[in-house]
Amino acid sequence: MTIDLQEKAKRRCSWLPDLNAYSGPRYKALAAALAEAIDQGDLAADMRLPPQRLLADALGVTTGTVTRGYAEAERRGLVEARVGSGTYVYDRQDDQRPNFYHLQAENEDNRLDLSLSLMVPSPQRLQGLQQALQTLIEDPLQLAEVLAYQSERGQPQQLAVFCDWFQRLGIPIDPDQLVVTDGGQHGIFLSLQALLAPGELLVTDQLTYPGVIAAARELHLRHQGIPRDAQGMDMQALERLCQQQKPRAVYIMPDQNNPTGYCLSAERRKELVALARQYDFWIIEDAVQFMPPEFRQERLADLAPERCVYLFSTSKILAGGLRVGVLAAPKTQLPRLTAALRAHCWMAPPLMVALTCAWIESGEADQLLEWQWQELRARQELVSQELEGADFSRHPAGFVVWLQLPGDWQTGEFVRAAADAGVRVLGAEPFSVGSQPVPRAVRLCVSPPANRDRLREALQRLQALLKSPPRGRAVF
Ligand SMILES: Cc1ncc(COP(=O)(O)O)c(C=O)c1O
Repeated sequence: MTIDLQEKAKRRCSWLPDLNAYSGPRYKALAAALAEAIDQGDLAADMRLPPQRLLADALGVTTGTVTRGYAEAERRGLVEARVGSGTYVYDRQDDQRPNFYHLQAENEDNRLDLSLSLMVPSPQRLQGLQQALQTLIEDPLQLAEVLAYQSERGQPQQLAVFCDWFQRLGIPIDPDQLVVTDGGQHGIFLSLQALLAPGELLVTDQLTYPGVIAAARELHLRHQGIPRDAQGMDMQALERLCQQQKPRAVYIMPDQNNPTGYCLSAERRKELVALARQYDFWIIEDAVQFMPPEFRQERLADLAPERCVYLFSTSKILAGGLRVGVLAAPKTQLPRLTAALRAHCWMAPPLMVALTCAWIESGEADQLLEWQWQELRARQELVSQELEGADFSRHPAGFVVWLQLPGDWQTGEFVRAAADAGVRVLGAEPFSVGSQPVPRAVRLCVSPPANRDRLREALQRLQALLKSPPRGRAVF
């Protein structure tokens, strides 16, 4: 490039950073410069950034570098690419992006929400809750008990109810290992807090449950993601990491990864346990998205009972609003776990735990679970029919579908286009750990729609988008 061309490009650029002021690769320097300029008010909300080729000429770098820099800035939520129009500074005042924890059920304007993995709606749930409430109302002794402070781990008779249930579900667990929690997310937080100190390293899949990413951040843990293949987490990559650093724990959803739906193969389970023993780390096994027995493989907690915490919750079976879960841990770790629990909330709310136990004891919980497993399978079959030809992964009885975007679709654009079509989905970003490029993919949850017809409608709207990728993307 001639000096003349560079000078001309510089004059035409509305914004020109000095990349030499930043270390690291040029594209990251560009993203950092964008962050600083936005922070300092040099780049205003909704301002259009210089076209990529022009900025590349002005900076004396390749267009690819600018493209990657803008993409990195988009990944960090600083800018947004608009089809056919360029890249703009993100306007936080007008934040329409889906907030991960923001729940927006289906509503009258025909919007369909596939963004969160919730239990499948069923009238059985309301009846089950009413019946459980009635059981409690008719038992003044129990009612008096729930008014009192209780033991942190849960009352012995409640732990026995959970153990009997697990037994029926084919999972023998010793009640002396159990701690009742305020749900699965609480179980994750407690385990991380009890087993890891700030600054220690937590390892998860590169694509993982956002709640664990949030908890690791709150607890000031270092967090690294490991890639996967068809069998699940890449154990060679994990071993290489163990040789260089010292992970304190691996968090994993072996029966159904959220968001990709993959399952950790039997062989990989053994390899993970062998690595855990060799390099001395904990395993946190999340079974909150609980699978039917024919899909459940040997639990990591059975393979390595001395170093595994098993997380379970009633949120995806009975109701997310109950906020009741349990964890099973090696007995040696119970003092640390209960100390953490006391520091959080002293105990899970006794009334909610008693209600949950009454529901489980009625036998209704088993029926609900069986029905939901069938329903999830039917919904996943619907996905195969309606998204025929699309590139997706999922578990055949799972809550989620991981949809790779074709052609020209960028994740943010697709999420916005889906929202415009009345369907809410989540892009890959909340699930992505570390600085690896975020895949062009979205997660759909099959469970929230009121019925299969509503799910079909949502899938048809998404399929229509997949078949008409954006045209006329400006090439700079
Ligand atoms: C894998 C996984 N773990 C934990 C949780 C949190 O469970 P709870 O709602 O019981 O806190 C969820 C909820 O979606 C989940 O998908």
